[in-house]
Amino acid sequence: MDLKQDAFPAPRSGEEKSGRLLDVKDLHVEFHTRDGVVKAVNGVNYSVDAGETLAVLGESGSGKSVTAQAIMGILDMPPGKIPQGEILYRGQDMLKMSGEERRKIRGRKIAMIFQDALSSLNPVLSVGYQLGEMFRVHEGLSRKEAKTKAIELMEKVKIPAAKERVNDYPHQFSGGMRQR
Ligand SMILES: Nc1ncnc2c1ncn2[C@@H]1O[C@H](COP(=O)(O)OP(=O)(O)OP(=O)(O)O)[C@@H](O)[C@H]1O
Ligand SMILES: [Mg+2]
Repeated sequence: MDLKQDAFPAPRSGEEKSGRLLDVKDLHVEFHTRDGVVKAVNGVNYSVDAGETLAVLGESGSGKSVTAQAIMGILDMPPGKIPQGEILYRGQDMLKMSGEERRKIRGRKIAMIFQDALSSLNPVLSVGYQLGEMFRVHEGLSRKEAKTKAIELMEKVKIPAAKERVNDYPHQFSGGMRQR
């Protein structure tokens, strides 16, 4: 995937809310399979400032999801490999960080909504429990507090009757609701 960037400018206010968040520099990702090497990402460059939205368009199989997985640090390695490139979060190269440092950023600072929402949600846990997980794990909230937060999040993305639907399981949601 090659990429030229033409993004919307970011509004600026406050320390945490301004400045460069993410720089992807000359990123290469390859998969070493039995049938040979798949060069999935070949020198991608992009950056995202606080408050900015960047849309990446490209044909199917061009490496959009693999780039996102590399940024999140969830590539299957092996067979995946990052032979070249940098992924800077607020100027720090995440590829050179320890697993512990990366975990602190993942979930709190960078999150990912998966393309296939049904298979990325656990079918035996309620939607509310799974949404609440990040508050329990990252912010140490109780189950009850986390559930309240989950309802707030669902209301934010306009899920009707969020208070009741928080107890639903993923298969009871529509495709669009799952992605939201
Ligand atoms: N685990 C893997 N092992 C081998 N090849 C992989 C693996 N994951 C992805 N690929 C290959 O990497 C390339 C890029 O895939 P990717 O999923 O990033 O495409 P995409 O741009 O997100 O496509 P779509 O628009 O269809 O979602 C594809 O050729 C894909 O087959
Ligand atoms: Mg994809």
